[in-house]
Amino acid sequence: IRSALTEGPLKGKHILVTSGPTHEPIDPVRYIANRSSGAQGTAIAVALRDLGAEVSFVTGPADVPPPSGVKVIRVETAREMKDAVEAALPAEAAVFAAAVADWRVATENGSKIKKVKGELPTLEFAENPDILAGVSQMEAGRPRLVVGFAAETDDVVAHATAKRKRKGCDWIVANDVSPATGIMGGSENAVVLITERGADDWPRMGKDEVARQLAYRIADHLNGTDT
Ligand code: CTP
Ligand code: CA
Repeated sequence: IRSALTEGPLKGKHILVTSGPTHEPIDPVRYIANRSSGAQGTAIAVALRDLGAEVSFVTGPADVPPPSGVKVIRVETAREMKDAVEAALPAEAAVFAAAVADWRVATENGSKIKKVKGELPTLEFAENPDILAGVSQMEAGRPRLVVGFAAETDDVVAHATAKRKRKGCDWIVANDVSPATGIMGGSENAVVLITERGADDWPRMGKDEVARQLAYRIADHLNGTDT
C-alpha cells in the first residue's frame, strides 16, 4: 500500500500554515475579531499533510477543529500569532490563511467596562503587525514560497495584485467575498491565484478541492516541476 505520508511529493518538507481568526481583547469579556471559520486553512493543512509535508499549523480560535497529523500551535491575538510563526520558522513554504485582525485595542482593560446609562465608551486602536509582510520581507531565512490570501470585493484581481506587490509575497489566493457570491461562511470557494505570471481563475469548487489544488501547485513549485 502506498502511503502519501511517507511517499508524497512534499515528503520531509516543513510547511507553515496560519489559520482562523485572531481575537483582540477589549476587556476580560469582549473582543474584536475578523469573521473566519478556519475551514480553508484547515483544509490546506490537511492537503499538505496528505502530500507528505510536515505541517506547523498556527491557529487562532477557529470554529473547526485543527487536523490530526500536524503540529498545532494555538494562539489568540495577532501578536501571539506573529511570535508563533517566527518560532516555527524556518520552513520551505508558508501559507497565510488566517484572518488577522488589523487593529487591536490600544490599551486592554484589565477590568470589565461597565455599562453606564447614556454613556458610550470610546475605544482607541493600535495597528497589529502584518505577519505575512514581515515574513515575505525577511532578509535571511525567508521561506522559498510565501503564499498569502486576500478576501476582496469589487475589482478582486486588481486589489489582490496590488496586495501581492505591497506585501512582497510570491502568490496570493484571492477570493470575492461580496455578499452576492455567497462564498463567505460557505463550504465552496471561487479563487483567483495571483503569481508573478498573472491571474489564474479557478472554477468554483469545494474548499477541500481548492486546498488540494493549491497543495499540488506548492509541491510542483518546491520540486521545480511546475510548467
Ligand atoms: N495578514 C497577516 N497579518 C496581518 C494582516 C493580514 O499575516 N496583520 C495576512 C493574511 O493572513 C492574508 C493576507 O495577509 O494572507 C492578506 O490579508 P488582508 O486582510 O487581505 O490584507 P490587509 O493588508 O490587511 O488589507 P485589507 O485592508 O484589505 O484588510
Ligand atoms: Ca486586513
